[in-house]
Amino acid sequence: MQTVNLNNGVEMPILGYGVFLVDPKECERCVTDAIDTGYRLIDTAQAYYNEEGVGAAVKKSGINREEFFLVTKVWITNSGEEKAARSIDESLKKLQTDYVDLLLIHQPFGDYYGTYRAMEKAYKDGKVRAIGVSNFFPDRYVDLCNFVEIKPMINQMETHVFQQQKVLREYMNKFETQLMSWSPMARGENNFFNNEILKSIGTKYNKTVAQVALRFLTQENVIVIPKSTHKERMKENFEILDFELSNEDIETMRKMDKGSSIFVNHYDPEFVQAIINY
Ligand SMILES: NC(=O)c1ccc[n+]([C@@H]2O[C@H](COP(=O)([O-])OP(=O)(O)OC[C@H]3O[C@@H](n4cnc5c(N)ncnc54)[C@H](OP(=O)(O)O)[C@@H]3O)[C@@H](O)[C@H]2O)c1
Repeated sequence: MQTVNLNNGVEMPILGYGVFLVDPKECERCVTDAIDTGYRLIDTAQAYYNEEGVGAAVKKSGINREEFFLVTKVWITNSGEEKAARSIDESLKKLQTDYVDLLLIHQPFGDYYGTYRAMEKAYKDGKVRAIGVSNFFPDRYVDLCNFVEIKPMINQMETHVFQQQKVLREYMNKFETQLMSWSPMARGENNFFNNEILKSIGTKYNKTVAQVALRFLTQENVIVIPKSTHKERMKENFEILDFELSNEDIETMRKMDKGSSIFVNHYDPEFVQAIINY
């Protein structure tokens, strides 16, 4: 598996499997199928309520823990130094492991500075191999980077052909934070899987829309974690590192960027209120 070198030297797979909206009852089966397909990076979160399913599938796989790269995220209700510290231990228990490979702050709301301090401590105590953030737009990201001891290794952001995070990436390069995409296939929105540009590029390589869209991101050095509950799609989404898009096709796909979210607006107070109540 191709890897990315994080700013603390940790090697992270560039391709993994995400379990947002995977029913907790179905999660163990899905992750087992993903492991069977070859995925070793698994992305979950406290707010997905399916960390137990991930932990059970990893344990039952019989594969050494060191071969996996497990990611989880601290939710807003667990923000603040003490609560976050307790929630990290709870996540470890649910995941049936002594450490996670990457721990993120899920959203830039609540006492996230306190959360970050708890994460720095967990990092120093060996409970976490890398720490970072998610949904930290340029303003919050730059602010955080200036006032923490350990620079975030990852910022997990909505990133796909329609939202390529070009502005944020300039700042992330400055502080050496790696971009990790959420919803790399735009969760199917905007008629994504029938997009004519992606279809015609795919035809040239005998690849599907999903495959060229995911390959585009990895060629742009973005980590991807496509989600599917179907094993054949997990396989399709995994078979993306055996071909190379031409510079011309990369340029065409760069032009598909709309420069804004297709889901949510983190600057909208109504959205902020809704997510705090989630
Ligand atoms: N940090 C955050 O705030 C945040 C937010 C959102 C997501 N995430 C993470 O990012 C991961 C991926 O994002 P996502 O789940 O939102 O969206 P996504 O991976 O872009 O798309 C998933 C959707 O596409 C369908 N699909 C998957 N592969 C397909 C294929 N080859 N052909 C056709 N349809 C396909 C899936 O349906 P089926 O399942 O029915 O196959 C599902 O509806 C999440 O699971 C989660 O781990 C993080």
